[in-house]
Amino acid sequence: MQTKIDLLKQKQAEALLGGGQKRIDAQHKKGKLTARERIHFLLDENSFEEIGMMVQHRSTDFGLDKEKYLGDGVVTGYGTINGRLVYVFSQDFTVFGGSLSETHAEKICKIMDLAMKNGAPVIGLNDSGGARIQEGVVSLGGYADIFYRNVRSSGVIPQLSAIMGPCAGGAVYSPAITDFILMVENTSYMFVTGPNVVKTVTHEEVSSEELGGAMTHAAKSGVTHFACANEIETINTLKQLLSYMPQNCEEDAPALPYEGGDEKRESLNTIIPDNANQPYDIREVIEHVIDEASFCEVHKHFAENIVVGFARLAGRSIGIVANQPAVLAGVLDIHSSTKAARFVRFCDSFNIPLLVFEDVPGFLPGTDQEWNAIITNGAKLLYAFSEATVPRITVITRKAYGGAYDVMNSKHIGADMNFAWPSAEIAVMGAKGAAEIIFKNEIAAAENKEDKWKEKEGEYQALFANPYRAAERGFIDEVIEPSQTRIKLIKAFKMLENKVDKLPKKKHGNIPL
Ligand code: HXC
Repeated sequence: MQTKIDLLKQKQAEALLGGGQKRIDAQHKKGKLTARERIHFLLDENSFEEIGMMVQHRSTDFGLDKEKYLGDGVVTGYGTINGRLVYVFSQDFTVFGGSLSETHAEKICKIMDLAMKNGAPVIGLNDSGGARIQEGVVSLGGYADIFYRNVRSSGVIPQLSAIMGPCAGGAVYSPAITDFILMVENTSYMFVTGPNVVKTVTHEEVSSEELGGAMTHAAKSGVTHFACANEIETINTLKQLLSYMPQNCEEDAPALPYEGGDEKRESLNTIIPDNANQPYDIREVIEHVIDEASFCEVHKHFAENIVVGFARLAGRSIGIVANQPAVLAGVLDIHSSTKAARFVRFCDSFNIPLLVFEDVPGFLPGTDQEWNAIITNGAKLLYAFSEATVPRITVITRKAYGGAYDVMNSKHIGADMNFAWPSAEIAVMGAKGAAEIIFKNEIAAAENKEDKWKEKEGEYQALFANPYRAAERGFIDEVIEPSQTRIKLIKAFKMLENKVDKLPKKKHGNIPL
């Protein structure tokens, strides 16, 4: 028996070395951790159980039969993060550049299937040269097997992707289907075709970092939700993100113990400037309402005119969507609509209640927006809120103008509680523009047009630039003093705790994509 145990130990030791010490050193030299080191930092100590350590590829072409590594370039298994079960795959760049073979794909599929059957999240740590070139179509098939499972798992279990090295070609589509992508600055990139192909086809000269690095995708394309300074920050962000989520769509997110206290926040009474056109940072409002230091902002650098992220309120996980008056006056445009819509749908998929802070002057006008389909894209947000069945609460802090009033989780599209601050202005448009249209003739006939315009603007302002017209109709449930916001929200979310709302029977809806 002992010799057999020795053989097992020898094989295990061989597997732990992946592609060998030289390649491990090369990985470290690039400032990257190995696949196993990443798992070590991600999971609770000693919780990792590996599956498929002895798997080897079956290829014989191009001399591959003579080059085999135990595990075949991906470490797969399960473990816990803060005591909660997760499934993990971590690509090993030291073995054929982490490239995906038929068997490498089978290992990933195996843990994805287990995750679905057992209702727990899947975390993918990606570091791969793409399809194993020597294998041809079986590798492509392997990718498709993963994509298919990503889609089937979508909305059932959370799926998170960290990009910690190359991720190119069709390989990018697995992370793209998952719920959140995190990228490491300077050592990771994602693109469908690399700089060389780009140069040949479009004659553009661009570096990998510029084309598909972390900040490019965080700020320009919105492909990644997080750009992290290094691998450890990426891993810590993964853990933090998971803490707001349930294990699967049948469960609620775990709540932290909360004892309560003085929930009044006097500072909220002074955040909104007296001048309605002056910006302020909505993050300040968010921070003063939620539990201390509990905000985890998602998509921070993309479409900054809307802020989305997870937070805790009295210990409970919530999703926040907030117009940002400090950027483009908080206007809704294509990117902010799609950013918020995707976040709303994630929260609704996983039973995370939604809190909306609204200060929006409307949709952004212009040919750029119209020609790039602000109609279709704006509709995504309307659709996402309307289909969401989780508890939904809106707080209008200032402007709620035009179609954007409807879209931003209004009562009419199913919000459960709608609060407004006394500073709220709920109207079809701003008073200046409104006066120009409805008093056009009067202004034109006046001796002093500017004075007349101002007078009419004042009339419109007095009538509509407040929350009371909407409250009269019941479109606003309560006008509240800002300092009371936290108390009101804690009570309202508690009241909505057992909300049951079902969509009509259907195969699935047809969101305007
Ligand atoms: C097999 C690969 C590989 C691949 C890298 N290697 N990519 N082996 N298939 N796709 C191997 C290398 O031969 C090398 O082996 C080791 O991994 C490390 O690679 P290096 O080139 O030395 O590393 P580096 O300089 O860091 O460059 C990394 C890289 C480069 C940028 C990823 O290797 C590269 O461009 N690889 C090819 C990428 C590619 O074209 N993939 C196919 C994309 S198409 P040794 O033995 O020297 O350690 C695709 C389609 C998917 O993926 C479609 C899904 C639908």
